[in-house]
Amino acid sequence: MFECLHSTHVFTSPNDDNGYDISDYRGIMKEFGTMKDFDELLKGMHQRKIKLVLDLVVNHSSDEHVWFRESRKSRTNPYRNYYHWWNAEKGKPSHRYSFFDVEGSAWKYDSTTDAYYLHYFSEKQPDLNWENPKVRKEIYDMMHFWFKKGVDGFRMDVISAISKDTTFPELPAKYKGDYIAYYAEGPYLHKYLKEMNEKILSKYDVISVAEGLGVTTETAHKFVDQERKELDMLYHFEGMGLGYLPGQFRQMDPKGKSLTDFKKIYSKWDSVFAKKGWGTIYLGNHDQPRMVTRWGNDAPKYREASSKMLTTFLLTMRATPYYYFGDELGMNNIKFDKIEDYRDIETINYYRKLQNEGGDLDYFLQGQKISARDNGRTPFQWDDSKNAGFTKGKPWLKVNPNYKKINVAAQEKDPDSVLNYFRKMVRLRKSLPELIYGKYELLDRDNEKVYAYTRALNKKKVLVLLNFSTSLTKFEIPKTSGSLNVLMNNIASLNIKNNIVTLEPYQALLIRLK
Ligand code: NOJ
Repeated sequence: MFECLHSTHVFTSPNDDNGYDISDYRGIMKEFGTMKDFDELLKGMHQRKIKLVLDLVVNHSSDEHVWFRESRKSRTNPYRNYYHWWNAEKGKPSHRYSFFDVEGSAWKYDSTTDAYYLHYFSEKQPDLNWENPKVRKEIYDMMHFWFKKGVDGFRMDVISAISKDTTFPELPAKYKGDYIAYYAEGPYLHKYLKEMNEKILSKYDVISVAEGLGVTTETAHKFVDQERKELDMLYHFEGMGLGYLPGQFRQMDPKGKSLTDFKKIYSKWDSVFAKKGWGTIYLGNHDQPRMVTRWGNDAPKYREASSKMLTTFLLTMRATPYYYFGDELGMNNIKFDKIEDYRDIETINYYRKLQNEGGDLDYFLQGQKISARDNGRTPFQWDDSKNAGFTKGKPWLKVNPNYKKINVAAQEKDPDSVLNYFRKMVRLRKSLPELIYGKYELLDRDNEKVYAYTRALNKKKVLVLLNFSTSLTKFEIPKTSGSLNVLMNNIASLNIKNNIVTLEPYQALLIRLK
């Protein structure tokens, strides 16, 4: 069986948004090496039976891409229609929200041609005009280029937003101000995905996974229903905002987050693919803080147990787990105190926006300690040498000072480390088809401390018990005919009496019931 590696942002980029602003889709960012290095990497991975999935960032390019440099030169430039322009004599275009803009506006005025261009993300990330067939052809040719090299698939960055109503009307009332929902329902989105499938994806043995911004349980099948011949998988965002204040930028809700809501979300998404299609599951990636800080507990006493518990969750759900590097070590948020430590445009520009509006900057920085993306982007911790063995150069972000203790070298030596637990869980999942394909059934839905479910296939059943709390918690194991067989336990102790298990804080147990 192949493993998969998803490698992001390796294309040439001025790095306004950590590589999500591409200036050459066929070049490798100089910080990462050369095309020769890439070819060697791909070959080496294939020799080791690891697949390589690249990031396809084609909702927008960099403003330093030659297409945009040409496009902005004149209104009659052959590349003009590669992007979305709005001539200023028509008046101001109707508002579009930008994720990274200091003023929150996705239209940037460009005096060279007296026109505005559209950028859903930063002003250095102009949106490509998918309604132009030439743009689509350029993108498909570029995909061919990478597939011919042998890459194994694409993760498709904000692919849900590629199609736009180019009359740019006021936001229709039915979206109630929700721009993300609107962006994900462009008029020709599915036409383009079908076209891409027909022209490119269907010609190769590859996988595609959509970043499903704005995709809901109602719309998911439109992307991944096999009969529609569009994409293979998507990942949703519903879980990611849990515990944030509604409408606020990654700000923790002082009321906290509830486990029952968490269960509701993941159970609902399981049911979407129960009969048809296939889901994904993740708790961390380069756009999220560290999994253990956000969903577990990174206090020294609980960091290891809760990291392992979350790993147990990810590897026992019916979906393809997307597991973010560093989480297998239990790396946690760095929690910067000052804005100067951040490199992420999202945090920096939101800070500036608040500054201009006279907002509460201290409150914002406090929240970012939990939620900022840079928390998940600090250098990987290999060993206890300088810069955690990550580089001899100067890393772009500070190394988490806990690297002396939390690193691969130390965890390799410890059979009970978070890393070795991760390995055991991967092996277990691969060896038990019920953990991959088995039916998921939620138990004790209203329990605010324990997430319990079973996975069953062909008369085999495994119970998963996850204590998401800091308290000792009793749970009654459903009666079985045979004896209970504990397949996995993330901590040293086990307390089961008469089918009642007393779970330690953050304990995770896998118990065979049949
Ligand atoms: C989603 C990517 O994952 C994120 O890192 C990036 O900032 C935006 N899309 C814009 O490309």
